[in-house]
Amino acid sequence: MRIIRARDYDEMSRRAAGLIAAAVVTKPDAVLGLATGDSPIGAYGYLCDWYRDGHIDFSQASALNLDEYCGIEPDAVQSYSYFMRRYLFSKINISSDNQHIPDGLARDPGRECVRYDAIIAARGGIDVQLLGIGLNGHIGFNEPGPEFVKDTHVVALSESTIDANSRFFDDRRDVPVKAYTMGICTIMRARRIVLIASGERKADIIKRAFFDAVTPGVPASILQLHADVTLVGDEAALSLI
Ligand code: GLP
Repeated sequence: MRIIRARDYDEMSRRAAGLIAAAVVTKPDAVLGLATGDSPIGAYGYLCDWYRDGHIDFSQASALNLDEYCGIEPDAVQSYSYFMRRYLFSKINISSDNQHIPDGLARDPGRECVRYDAIIAARGGIDVQLLGIGLNGHIGFNEPGPEFVKDTHVVALSESTIDANSRFFDDRRDVPVKAYTMGICTIMRARRIVLIASGERKADIIKRAFFDAVTPGVPASILQLHADVTLVGDEAALSLI
């Protein structure tokens, strides 16, 4: 594992964006695995700036998002579909045919999971997977549990994740209780993984995920077994390692 210690959120964002940009510059049809949350917003900002300034061309790249809430309209402001359009897709030249997010309104969730895994396989797998980390160690929406779940699946969100994500909803009761997420194998099959973390509240889980036992109780801990992981964190998030 490589660790990039950034001074602050802005430097973390620039360094993470640099790794994604490098993937697209060296392989124009790169398949990018993308994440939502506060952590990647700054990195997406840099990618948009570099596109605007003519440094990166996303016309052949594809994006596959990690996760989406079940039962949410793609135009709802809390949907991950909306998030991606707002912070990245609407500001770069990625083709709409190449933007993939699980369909929160799919009638048949089992079939939607199979459909999503088939897209990833058809694209030849993910070149760079960007990840944030939940306070309980979740990646995508792979919540702590008795085992690592391999493929794209529907997950019941934990109370702590619902609490953490309730900041985006008017009422905690409005937070969807289920979500689609790429599975742990889907994520582990990515050729390169970049995990970003910012702020003191992430310090404890970063230590547990990367320096304690590999266990499905801390889903991100599986990343210790991946051959090409870069942890990009600010000083506060890396303060315990
Ligand atoms: C959500 C997302 C994750 C994200 C996590 C952390 O639960 N499903 O993909 O990594 O939140 O978000 P933040 O970066 O806002 O701390």
